[in-house]
Amino acid sequence: MQVFTTVASLQEVLTLAESGSIGLVPTMGALHEGHLSLIDRAMNENAVVVVSIFVNPIQFNNAEDLQKYPRTVEADLRLIEQLEDKHKSEECKVMVLTPTVEEMYPTPVTETYHFGPIEDVMEGPRRPGHFSGVAVVVRRLFDIVHPQRAYFGEKDFQQIAIIRNLLEQIEYPIELIACPIVRADDGLALSSRNMRLSPEARAIAPAIYDTLQQAIEMSDYEEVEDVCEWVLSTLVSFHEMNPQPNGLQFEPEYFEIVNDTTLQPINSWDDAEGIVGCIAVWLDGVRLIDMVRFR
Ligand code: PAF
Repeated sequence: MQVFTTVASLQEVLTLAESGSIGLVPTMGALHEGHLSLIDRAMNENAVVVVSIFVNPIQFNNAEDLQKYPRTVEADLRLIEQLEDKHKSEECKVMVLTPTVEEMYPTPVTETYHFGPIEDVMEGPRRPGHFSGVAVVVRRLFDIVHPQRAYFGEKDFQQIAIIRNLLEQIEYPIELIACPIVRADDGLALSSRNMRLSPEARAIAPAIYDTLQQAIEMSDYEEVEDVCEWVLSTLVSFHEMNPQPNGLQFEPEYFEIVNDTTLQPINSWDDAEGIVGCIAVWLDGVRLIDMVRFR
């Protein structure tokens, strides 16, 4: 594994690297098994894998969230090294880019991106500027690395649709590889933000996925609207059924059942072939997101 803090030093080595495909795994660090599954897959499919670790300030619309975002670069590098050991016999080079903010953005960022209806739902209106900030950094990474493939996790389901749209807008021939959510044994979707949950909150957090699983069962006999309402009310009233000594409660921000391509809410189960449910829930001051597939 080679670690680069500057764009120029990474590019120099990339230019010298033998021919073969390059896979890019953009991350904000605080790596967990979900990220490692992306890197693992990228290592199986490419001659060179570039992992970026960069907490991108321009995609945070909440200063406290940016400040509290976990930064664990040393531990991240050790995890990547362990994964490399697993792939020892293969000829895959791993390069990690850990730039500073000044290195990524030497001049003030002026570009913005718009994505139309796919950003007018779910995360979009609740995190103004977020997806434009994601698009700016992802495009920069594309321009630095020139990958053939880029790997993203399906937990951020809307982000994948945004990146797909970005690739169409900028006409880059990069294959977007969407990888399934990795869950803890109790069902909680792995996320860097889980580190910020107190032990009490972590203990009840799996109720989010349990509720979504029950929603999938209900979708066989209940209307879309009723399933949506049930999910929200089940989480809102969770603490009434399961009293929490420290007053912990789930505060769902949204749960939407949408067409998996247009991301527009559906009214009936016949409205789309691919249907997913996406949720954002506050728990213990931490915003958790998750998604499940209905069809
Ligand atoms: O999904 C993330 O971790 C970030 O949004 C990404 C894609 C690394 C861009 O900063």
